[in-house]
Amino acid sequence: MLPSSLDQFVIELEKVRDGRFLQMTDILSIDNLNLADIELIFDLASFFKKTVINCEKKMPILKGYSQLNFFAETSTRTRTSFELAGKHLGADVVNVSSSDSSMNKKGETLNDTARTLDALHADVIVLRHASSGASYMIAKEVHAPVINAGDGRNEHPSQALLDAFTIIERKGKIKGLTVTIVGDVLHSRVFGSLVRILNKMGANVRVTAPETFFHSHIENFGVKVFYNIAEALDQADVIYALRVQTERAANGYIPTIREYSKNFCINLNRLPLAKKDVIIMHPGPVIREVDLTTEIINHSQCAVQDQVENGLPMRMALLWLAINYTKKKQF
Ligand code: NCD
Repeated sequence: MLPSSLDQFVIELEKVRDGRFLQMTDILSIDNLNLADIELIFDLASFFKKTVINCEKKMPILKGYSQLNFFAETSTRTRTSFELAGKHLGADVVNVSSSDSSMNKKGETLNDTARTLDALHADVIVLRHASSGASYMIAKEVHAPVINAGDGRNEHPSQALLDAFTIIERKGKIKGLTVTIVGDVLHSRVFGSLVRILNKMGANVRVTAPETFFHSHIENFGVKVFYNIAEALDQADVIYALRVQTERAANGYIPTIREYSKNFCINLNRLPLAKKDVIIMHPGPVIREVDLTTEIINHSQCAVQDQVENGLPMRMALLWLAINYTKKKQF
């Protein structure tokens, strides 16, 4: 049930927050979040999910604030859900993409673009960029808190948060679960954040892929490495498939996509290798018959649509916290 008025909603929201705040200026990496921060974010996301989203209403608690989405790399799910999240909360959302910014054809640097955006007094900047570390660079230049919406091959923290939230919804916990990550870990920022949050929350993390898709010291991420997918899936509670990142030339690391699909695509024959109640996840976009078969996508144990849905309340929580309850920057 949606609280009857905006004032009532704020009272209930503050009850959920319970005096907690994030001890950082920007949301750039899972490394900066401790378990208490993650719990705060999940409590807020649950509250937004059962109130605003399930009641299909707007709650303009960010009215008067401006949210700048600066996406210098393609995106469907992440950009749309950040935009809708801001709009559900009443923020003025402005989208800038690489193709329509001066960075693209006129040669303006990323730092100068950031200074320009800062001069426009955004209250929060959501950044996606093809270069690893871009969000750190921008965060140092601008007054507004920056949310990293994916930087190169580095991290994608809001995706990992919504993934962990989805696992808890489906499985009731993360601690002690065996999660097998399948695919292009080398080029994947989703992996970068996912492995950090899963380790932090006590999962046993396995990875499996063709050898060329592993970083040279992959074990340093705190994962168990398997070259054989059948062994990797044995007793798994969660299978998390990653896309082969062809835009980062990942297809050059494997003989052919067809061979990759033969050896690593999650299909109905591979499902019984894992636990009976295993769930299957993927951050999207899914390449059908390469990452997951259509039968798996349509399977009741596939949580891909839940992941997309949870992107909305998760990003509402992050935007609200970033604007109101992070540390202010000192320049
Ligand atoms: C991912 C991304 O862009 O990092 N997608 C997403 O944000 N949901 C993963 C991908 O592109 O494979």
